[in-house]
Amino acid sequence: MSHMFIYPKIYRKLKRGPQVILPKDIGIIISYSGIDKNSICIDAGTGSGWLALSLARICKHVYSYDVREDFISIAERNRAFLGLDNVTLKNKDVSKKVDETGADLFTLDLPDSEKALRNAKKALKDGGCVVGYLPHMEQVKKFSTTLSRLGFADIYTVEVIVRDMLVREEGIRPTTKGIWHTAYLTFARKQD
Ligand SMILES: C[S@@+](CC[C@H](N)C(=O)[O-])C[C@H]1O[C@@H](n2cnc3c(N)ncnc32)[C@H](O)[C@@H]1O
Repeated sequence: MSHMFIYPKIYRKLKRGPQVILPKDIGIIISYSGIDKNSICIDAGTGSGWLALSLARICKHVYSYDVREDFISIAERNRAFLGLDNVTLKNKDVSKKVDETGADLFTLDLPDSEKALRNAKKALKDGGCVVGYLPHMEQVKKFSTTLSRLGFADIYTVEVIVRDMLVREEGIRPTTKGIWHTAYLTFARKQD
């Protein structure tokens, strides 16, 4: 049995456009960033909205940016399906301009995420958290180096590996199939 089967039913019903962030990674973004019902989150790119809408289920408001209007439409359908009214979807380039300030969390899942870090720094409040979802190690290096250059603190990278277990009468062990690598997650905080 794969971990996919334990996802809440709502995830199985959401539409998918580009590659989505899976609950195993969403969970650690929520827990390590420490967001709660009073938090303001900024997210990019929206894609199908899996991360943005998961954040919206627990925080005060999410602003999510995507350059592709067709992906914003998919995310809008998912938003309506979940009945969330605390999400603002913006068809804009996050590396050009971010309109909001005072954010608690800024999440980035797009190619060349490091190009948006200057805007993330302006938009975050002191002590706010930035997270990059980075499929390759070269991206982690560029992202971390840019974080350091911009004066972010507590720069930390993790990979979340979930091992599905085969539970049966005899020979209980991890399964030989399942999702292994999705992306590395690089966290940092804007200095207080
Ligand atoms: C892999 S998808 C994001 C998936 C999303 N995190 C989810 O969980 O469903 C990457 C998205 O980034 C968007 N994108 C790429 N460059 C961008 C930019 N400069 N500003 C905003 N969105 C961008 C793409 O259009 C694409 O929809």
